[in-house]
Order: sequence, then C-alpha cells, then structure tokens
Amino acid sequence: MNNNGKQFSQFSRLAFFRNWISLTGLLIAVSAFFAFLLLFVLDSFAPFSNPYMGLLTYFVAPAVLLFGLLLGLLGAWLERRAFAHAAPGRIPPLRIDLSQPGQRRVMGIFAVGAVLLLLVTAVGSYRSYHFTESVGFCGRMCHTVMRPEYTAYLHSPHAKVECSACHVGPGAEAFVRAKLQGTHQLLGVLRGNYPKPVPAPVKNMRSAHDTCLECHWEKRYIGILDRNYAHFLADKDNTPYTVRLLINVGGCDPDHGPVGGIHYHMNVARKIEFVATDERRQVIPWVRVTEADGAVTEYRSPDFKADPSKFAIRRMDCLDCHNRVGHQLHTPDAAVDLAMSLGKIDPALPSIKKNAVAVLAKIYASDKEAAEKIAAGLAEQYPNEPRIHAVVGVVQDIYRQNIFPDMKASWQAYPDNVGHKDSAGCFRCHDNQHVSATDKKKMIQAGDCKACHIIFAQGKGADLNKGSASGMTFAHPGGDLDPSMKCSECHNGGSL
Ligand code: HEC
Ligand code: HEC
Ligand code: HEC
Ligand code: HEC
Ligand code: HEC
Ligand code: HEC
Repeated sequence: MNNNGKQFSQFSRLAFFRNWISLTGLLIAVSAFFAFLLLFVLDSFAPFSNPYMGLLTYFVAPAVLLFGLLLGLLGAWLERRAFAHAAPGRIPPLRIDLSQPGQRRVMGIFAVGAVLLLLVTAVGSYRSYHFTESVGFCGRMCHTVMRPEYTAYLHSPHAKVECSACHVGPGAEAFVRAKLQGTHQLLGVLRGNYPKPVPAPVKNMRSAHDTCLECHWEKRYIGILDRNYAHFLADKDNTPYTVRLLINVGGCDPDHGPVGGIHYHMNVARKIEFVATDERRQVIPWVRVTEADGAVTEYRSPDFKADPSKFAIRRMDCLDCHNRVGHQLHTPDAAVDLAMSLGKIDPALPSIKKNAVAVLAKIYASDKEAAEKIAAGLAEQYPNEPRIHAVVGVVQDIYRQNIFPDMKASWQAYPDNVGHKDSAGCFRCHDNQHVSATDKKKMIQAGDCKACHIIFAQGKGADLNKGSASGMTFAHPGGDLDPSMKCSECHNGGSL
C-alpha cells in the first residue's frame, strides 16, 4: 500500500486507511462491535445475571472497540505522515462542501453512525452503571474477599436489598466516591493486598440517615416484639431450653405512639453521642446525652480519665445496634440450636449439641480441611451410628455459611451489637459502670432486665404454656447470675 505516486485528482483520504495497521484496527473494532451486540442481547435476555458477562459486555467489549478505532486512526496518521514527507504540499486542505451530493451522503452516513454509536454507548453506560451497583458485582466479582458478606447476605432480612443501598446510598457524589474507593479496593484485590478480615465498622460509612432511612422510617412505632430463643443445653440429653421474650422496642415519636423503649436512642430530638477507644467500637467508656431542651448528661466508666474531645465523637444511629442486618455470621451455638429446633439435627443423639458446636468452633486452615475434619471428628465420636451422616452434612453447611477461614471472617471477627449474650452489645454502655459526672446515682443501667424486655415464658415443654405478662426472673440454666459479670465473659457463641 503506497500512495506516494498517486495523482490528486483521484485522491481520497480513505486511502490513508489502506494499510495493515488500520485494517487490523478496523477489523478489531467491527468484531468488537458485533461481539458487544451479541453479548448485550444475551445479557438482556438471560434469565439470570452473571457478573463476568456484565464485565465482558460493558467494559471489555467497548474497550476493545475503542482500541480498534484508535489503531485504525493511528495507521492512517502514520500513512499520511509518510505521504506528506514523500510529497510535501500535495495533500489538499480539508474542505467540506455540502452542496456536493457525494459529501452530503458521507455526512449523512457519518451522522447516522454517530447517533447509533452514542445510543448504544448511552444504553451501555446506563447498564454498566447498574451493573457496578448490582449485588452480582459487589458480591461475586471480588470472589474471595466479599464471599463472607455475600453468603451471609443471601440469608439475611435484606437479601432483596442491593449492597449499594446500604454501602453507597443515593446521590451522584456518593456514587463517584464509591467508584473511586472501589477502584482502589479492586487494585488491592488484584495485588492480593487487602486486610483479612475486612475491617468493620466500615470507616466513612454514610450515616444511617442517608441509607437505612431511605427505606425505614425513624418515627415508626414498633412497640413490643415477641421473640423465641430456642436453645439446647450442652448436656448429654441436649435438654431444650427456650426463652420467650417480649422485647420493648417502643418508638420515639409522640405522634405515633408512646415515646420510650429501645428505640428511645433514635429519638430525633434527643442526641446520644459516644467515644469508642477501639477500632471495632466494642469499648465505649464515654457517652453524652443531649435532651431536646439542651440539658446535657455525660456518662463515663471509672477508668476513663481522658478528654473525650481528643477522640472521634460519634453520634449514635441505627448502625450502632443493627450492625449485622446486612450480613450476619451466626455463632456456632445459635446455628446449631436453630438446626436442632428445626429437626435438621436429631436432638436424640447424645451430646450432639456440645459436639457439633465443638467441631465448628475449632480453627481450620481452609474450607476443605474444615469439611474433612468436621466429618472425621463427628464420625469418631459416633461410631456405629448411621444417623450421624446426615448430621455431618448439616454441620458442614453451617460452617460454609458462617465461617470463612481464608478471610478470617466469623462471628468472632464481626460481633453483633443487638443483644448482650455472646458479645457485649447493649452492655457496652448498659453495664452499671457508666456513671453521670454530676449525679453519681445516675447511670446507664443493666441491672433492671425489664427495661428492655420481659421474659414471658421459659424452660421446656409445658413450662412454655405458663406465660407471665409482668415477666419472670430469668432462670439461668448456668446457675445464679453474678450481676458484676457480663454474659459475654462466659458465653462467646462457640463454647458452653
Ligand atoms: C442492610 C444494609 C446492608 C446491606 C444490604 C449490605 N451491607 Fe455490608 N455492611 C453494612 C453495615 C451496617 C456494615 C458495618 C458493619 C459494622 O459496623 O460492623 C457493613 C459492613 C460490610 C463490610 C465490612 C466487613 C464486615 O463484614 O463488616 C463488607 C465487606 C460489606 N459490608 C460488604 C457487603 C456486600 C458485598 C453486600 C452485598 C452482597 C453488603 N455488604 C450488603 C450494611 C449492609
Ligand atoms: C432498600 C431498602 C432498605 C434499606 C436501604 C435498608 N433496609 Fe432494612 N429492611 C428493608 C426491608 C424491605 C425489610 C423487611 C424485610 C422483610 O420483612 O421481609 C427490612 C428489615 C429490616 C430490619 C428487621 C430485621 C429482622 O430481623 O426482621 C431491620 C432491623 C432493618 N431492616 C434495619 C436496617 C438498617 C439498620 C439499615 C441501614 C444499614 C437498613 N435496614 C437499610 C429495607 C431496607
Ligand atoms: C439501641 C439500639 C438500637 C438502635 C439505635 C436502633 N435499633 Fe432498631 N431495634 C433494636 C432492637 C434491640 C430491636 C428488636 C430486637 C431484634 O431485632 O432482634 C430492633 C428492631 C428493629 C426493627 C424490627 C422491627 C420488626 O418489626 O421486626 C427495625 C425495622 C428497626 N429496629 C429499625 C431501626 C432503624 C431504622 C434504626 C435507626 C433509625 C434503629 N432500628 C435503631 C435496637 C436498636
Ligand atoms: C439494655 C437493654 C437490655 C438489658 C438491660 C437486658 N437485656 Fe437481655 N436482651 C436485650 C436484647 C435487645 C435482647 C435480644 C437480642 C437479640 O434479638 O438477639 C436480649 C436478649 C436476652 C435473652 C435471650 C438471649 C438468648 O439468646 O437466649 C436473655 C435470656 C436475656 N436477654 C436476659 C437478660 C437478663 C437476665 C438481663 C438482666 C440481667 C437482661 N437481659 C438485661 C436487651 C437487654
Ligand atoms: C452508646 C451507648 C449505648 C448503647 C450501645 C446502648 N445504649 Fe441504651 N441507653 C444509652 C443511654 C445514654 C441511655 C439513656 C440513659 C438516661 O440518660 O436515662 C439509654 C437508655 C436506654 C433505654 C431506656 C429508655 C427509656 O425509655 O428511658 C433502653 C430501653 C435502652 N437504652 C436499651 C438499649 C438496648 C436494647 C441496647 C442494645 C441493643 C442499648 N440500649 C445500647 C446508651 C446506650
Ligand atoms: C459465669 C458464667 C456465666 C455467665 C456470666 C452467664 N452465663 Fe449463661 N450459662 C452459663 C452456663 C455454664 C450455662 C449452661 C450451658 C449449657 O449447659 O449449655 C449457661 C446457659 C445459658 C443459656 C441457655 C443455653 C445456651 O447456651 O444458650 C442462656 C440462654 C444463658 N446462659 C443466658 C445468659 C445471659 C443472658 C447471661 C447474662 C445476663 C448469662 N447467661 C451469663 C454460664 C454463664
């Protein structure tokens, strides 16, 4: 392909594209365009969405298309340069004259082509915007890293809510910020350079106001919730022990119900702020309440002498209690209790509660090792017991859904702040230790169990038919309770 000897009369700029580089580029571009169309149709009509398909359609194919076009231009530019060099001054200046039918036709084709391409890219960018916001992208692209959250999320009350509804929230600024952070994180993942477990709470997580409250209404009066906690003790008989609680969630808006109860904290007028001295916000030595009329009460635990303004002061919101609503990793204890109460694990197998929890709470190096050792461990304890085979499968499933050795993710890495049994939760503040600076008799109390819930019934079998509307004293299966101890000093979800 050499244009050097050409006469100007037949000269056409298109001739510059007649070189190997340009032709290769244009071939690539055309192939990418058709590949894109095909993928786009497949992705639009496929019954399920696959994150890799989305990646191919909206990132790889358009990138290859662009590369092909640029290569085409590059070839033409090189060719033109060579031509101009060989025959200086022989390329006529570009002149557009729409009165010529030939040029009009070319312009027409160009305009239609450009509009079509813009349309396809617009649809493509819209789809890719949705794609990067989708659960498939968040949960499955970074397969290993987000596997714990993704797995737990699929079994959470928010399984139908997209990750981005809580993690990005509405607004263009949030979108851009999330994409920048996301790119940074993606690079980390590609380099294998990311913390395990992924730290929680997420720094810079938006306030609940911009996320949770897009769907939930802080003024809703919830009142009393009736919840059953069905346990099995760690004895030979796996003695059932159920606590039926009436939880006083209450509400915080006088127009919709009496103000008080647990949701008192989210009182719109009242403000609760606190200081946490650890990364995970499990140690909270200082709390400040500001009432609607401006009255302030400061509570501190006795060993905290520092100036709170030296720390980040956080305003309490939904996330400080409901920190695991999006993806809770259950404790072995709770997961085995649930499987037993549903009959998936036969409670007639002696000591099965204790043994199943014990194999789950051990540390394993990988999923594979865990599956093998769970099977071997249970088989060893129940020789000649055919019923154990079904149990092994159930226990392995519990492990797979709740414990992720490769990410060091488990109930221990991510304690749940609603409640107080297996981690400090409410008792981070409600521990009788947080005393008012001005009135020593005033404290954030833990002793009055009835402030938060009443025990309506407890025990097993017929005991559970004897309810008490005013509440019963907790008949703790582990003996008398020492009021100076937190429940989580003995209970940790993986033993007892
Ligand atoms: C209902 C809201 C909600 C949804 C939906 C949600 N998350 Fe979260 N996520 C949170 C909250 C709240 C935290 C902070 C937890 C804390 O403070 O301990 C968090 C923390 C995380 C963390 C940090 C590590 C951890 O486990 O705490 C990762 C990673 C994460 N989410 C990924 C995801 C992915 C992936 C999805 C979708 C598959 C998702 N999240 C869906 C609310 C949500
Ligand atoms: C996109 C909407 C949406 C967002 C955002 C959202 N939720 Fe929800 N949430 C729901 C829906 C819907 C349900 C009820 C699910 C059902 O009943 O099937 C729910 C249920 C709940 C429940 C009851 C859980 C249970 O055990 O029954 C809590 C608590 C909750 N959300 C808290 C939060 C918090 C905290 C956030 C912010 C981190 C949040 N939600 C963000 C839609 C949302
Ligand atoms: C002081 C801790 C705390 C705070 C702060 C808090 N909640 Fe709750 N919330 C609870 C507890 C405890 C329950 C009931 C027990 C449970 O869900 O296991 C509950 C229950 C709920 C439920 C379930 C209602 C149902 O019908 O099942 C929803 C929804 C909810 N909260 C939303 C929110 C939202 C939204 C916010 C923030 C505006 C919020 N909560 C702030 C502790 C809190
Ligand atoms: C600051 C509020 C608060 C106080 C005070 C409190 N609890 Fe609770 N408790 C809760 C909440 C919230 C839950 C529900 C946790 C959940 O839904 O996972 C709970 C759950 C329980 C459960 C059921 C847990 C299970 O897994 O079986 C028992 C039992 C219990 N509390 C006993 C007590 C006793 C005994 C006291 C008094 C020493 C007490 N609580 C004081 C908030 C409180
Ligand atoms: C960051 C500290 C903090 C945490 C965590 C916390 N609370 Fe509170 N709570 C307070 C403070 C402060 C008060 C108000 C004490 C006062 O001034 O009377 C309070 C008051 C209450 C009240 C009494 C409301 C009323 O009507 O007077 C209930 C019920 C309650 N909390 C339940 C809970 C439950 C349940 C949890 C865990 C899910 C929890 N709290 C976690 C700080 C906290
Ligand atoms: C001194 C250690 C200790 C403390 C503190 C303690 N427990 Fe227990 N708890 C036990 C023992 C031991 C058992 C019996 C375990 C078994 O046989 O399964 C038990 C059993 C239970 C059970 C029934 C079985 C189970 O594992 O769920 C519940 C529910 C329970 N405790 C709740 C609480 C609550 C709530 C608190 C705090 C108010 C608390 N415990 C404080 C030691 C303790």
